Parts: sequence; C-alpha cells; structure tokens
Amino acid sequence: MTLRLIEGGRSNGDAPGLLIHGASQVATLAGGIRRGDAQGDLALLDAGVVGGPGAAEAPVVATWDGRVVAVGPRDQVEAGLERNGMPLARFARLDADGGVVTPGLVDPHTHLVFAGTRERELVLRQRGAGYLEILEAGGGILSTVAATRRATEEELAAHGRRWLDEMLRHGVTSVEAKSGYGLDLATELRLLAVAHALGKEGPVDVLPTFLGAHAVPAEFRARPDGTEAYVRSVIEEQLPGVAAQGRALSCDVFCEQGVFSADQSRRILVAAAGYGMSVRLHADELAPSGGAELAAELGAVSADHLHTPSETGLAALAAAAAGGHPTVATLLPATTWFLMADEPAPARRFIDAGVPVALGTDFNPGTSPNPNLPLVMTVACLEMRLSPEEALAAVTVNAAYAAGIGDQAGSLEPGKLGDVVIWRARSVGELPYWVGADLVDVVVKRGRIVYRRAG
Ligand code: NIG
Ligand code: FE
Repeated sequence: MTLRLIEGGRSNGDAPGLLIHGASQVATLAGGIRRGDAQGDLALLDAGVVGGPGAAEAPVVATWDGRVVAVGPRDQVEAGLERNGMPLARFARLDADGGVVTPGLVDPHTHLVFAGTRERELVLRQRGAGYLEILEAGGGILSTVAATRRATEEELAAHGRRWLDEMLRHGVTSVEAKSGYGLDLATELRLLAVAHALGKEGPVDVLPTFLGAHAVPAEFRARPDGTEAYVRSVIEEQLPGVAAQGRALSCDVFCEQGVFSADQSRRILVAAAGYGMSVRLHADELAPSGGAELAAELGAVSADHLHTPSETGLAALAAAAAGGHPTVATLLPATTWFLMADEPAPARRFIDAGVPVALGTDFNPGTSPNPNLPLVMTVACLEMRLSPEEALAAVTVNAAYAAGIGDQAGSLEPGKLGDVVIWRARSVGELPYWVGADLVDVVVKRGRIVYRRAG
C-alpha cells in the first residue's frame, strides 16, 4: 500500500484531489436506496472484467475538495478531470493494491455515549433472566443511566472517542448516536453535546439522536402514574430543551410492550417532528408492539430492530416503500445474537416485501457491546440469510438513508462525500466471509486518508 504523488504534484496534505486506483473491484452503490430484488445491486465495477487492476479501463475513484467527482474507467476519468479544471498534477494517488473499494460504511443505529459496563447481565441471561426482567429489577438500561449521570463530559467524550476509533478501524465513516442514558434534561443535553462535539472533532461524522424515551427513570417509577408522567416530561420539558440546544437531528423512542406504548410513542414523535426533527423508532424488538405500523404512519426515516413485527406492521412498511416514502428497516442481528434469541429478525420477508433493509451495530453496553459493523454483516449473512451483496448495501447506501444522510453518503458517485474504504480482499464476497477479521487497509474521509493499517 503506497501513497505517492503524481509527478509534479504537491504533498498529500495540500493536494485537493485524491485518485484511488489499483482496485480489484469498486462497489459504487450508486443509484439510490436499495429494496426488493435490487437490495443486493452494488453497481459494481470489476477490474477483472476489463483485464485486471492495472488495465487502462480499470475502475478508479476521484475525489476533489472532499467530494467524489468521478468514478469509472481510469483513462476516461483522468481525461474528464483535466477537461473539467482538475489537473491530474493536483491529485495525490492512492494504490488500492488489488483490494476491494467501497463507500465508507455508515452505522445507522448506535448508543455511542454512555459510561460503565454490564458484563454481569450476560451471565444472568445465560441463567434464564429476561432482558425486560433485568430492567424492571433496576438493572439493564437503568444501571447504565446511574453510571452515565455520574460521569463528567470529559469522561463521556473519552469513552465515546475510544469506540468511535474502533468503528473507524472497521471502515465506518458516519455514525448515528443516540442519547438515552440520561433520562433527565441536563444529562440528555450532555450526551447530545458530547455526540455533537465528537463529530466536530472528526474524522467520523456523528449524527445525534434524542432518545429521552428509552426507559422510565427510577425517580418516576416510584409513582403510580410513572410512565405517563415521564412521557409528559419528555414532551413538555425535555423536547423543548433539546430543540433549543439544536444538536439532535432526530428523535427515537423505545416503543415496546412494557416500556412505551405505540400511543405514547406517537405523542412524543409527533411533538419532535413539530420541532423539525426526523423520527425513528426502536420497534417490535421483543414483542409485536405496533412499532412498525407507527413508523409507517409517521413516515419515520427508520424502524429499528423489527425482530417481531406484526403482519399488519410488515404490510404497512411495504406499502410505504411501494408508495415512494420508504421507512428503512434497520435490522440489528448482533443484538439478537448477543441476547441469545432463538430467531433473528425476518430479514428475507422485508426484502421480499420490498422494504429497504439496513444493518447497524446497535453499539450499547447492554445488548450489543459490538463496534464491528463488518461482523454484523457476517451475522446477517449467517443468521438472516442475506447475501454478501445485500449486506454491503445494508451498511452503505441503505444505512445512509436510515441515518438521514442518503443524499450525502453511502455511495461513490459525483457529489457525495469522499468517504472510501480499501479492503484487504479481492471480492466483495470476502468481506463477511472472514469472520471477525480486520480487513480494512485504508479509510478515506472527505477525501483525506484518516486511517491506514500499520505494517
Ligand atoms: O437497542 N432496546 C433498547 N435499547 C437498546 C439497549 C439498551 C441497553 O440495554 O442499554 C437496544 O437494544
Ligand atoms: Fe438500540
């Protein structure tokens, strides 16, 4: 793997352009959201077909000032750049060394900012304790809330930065990040501020989501009308404060039997939409709870988990997609795996019904302490029977739409961010195949190399 300048070029830091060549395959994912039969359409440019990575027609990717400007056969791209006022001398060259090139991955569902660990729950679950049972006993989310409320902004930021770095090393260049471990206005604002600051710091873009309705906090549980009183406080106290802070791009609710009902979720999300936030849901994770139906009704950008959707919920998401207003089904197979569920989410049913499918890590201390999105692709292939191509579309273009940045990221096409990963693999099929392996050689963010494998 070598970075060298085209003769006459300037240093990489100064060069406004980056030309990535020498790829065996470039999965562009160009052409918009994927669903149904097209879920696995990678818009693939394959060097093998045109005579190997060194051939004049082999695919290259060019970025200029942080954006993709051209993708295609080398000769054609180079001539086009010169013609359009981007002299080749001003491009640094990056040799993919026969590797696979993809868009930077997007993780559309994480709980990035929190304090503490919950390894004890793994053992409790092995002994038969249920997820909601642990929560009801004051553990689960509530134990993370207690640790998070005690943590300083600096501690939260340091912890978030550690795991963002880990995500970056696995090829992730944009991350959705939920609050939800504060459950009071001051701490929720702190979590959103930290998520925003981490994104500003870069290189990974962070998209903050307000998840005040993640659980009912201890101080409300003591009251007979606790859940309802907390819902009112989310709507009347937290949401106005969060809107005034201006960091949250979207609002999420844990819509689940025994947590927040579809009705309570609707009230919170409608209020959030009134402040201009896009809406998303933790829907039907543990039992059919009307979450998928509500997501379709509200035009949510994403409905997440969907482990146990009802038939009507599935039909509602299919109808929304067919009507041109798709809610992305963001499936989280590492979570069902970690919770030792018997069955994964019915991914093939969503694909067959024409619902776009994305995949996320659900990175969090309770149900998915897993920052590795390529590993999620593997689990999706093994447990949910996605093809490697479907899984790649699910962590790139569809994940970008689920995260609300479909117009900016998730594919390699002119105008999109110059976010690119070079993988130590010869074909896309290898990405989920090497289980848990670290295949990322180089990550480019906004046209700059931000990570390179040592050695
Ligand atoms: O997506 N289910 C709700 N929220 C998280 C888990 C949070 C936790 O257990 O700390 C999830 O699985
Ligand atoms: Fe989650």
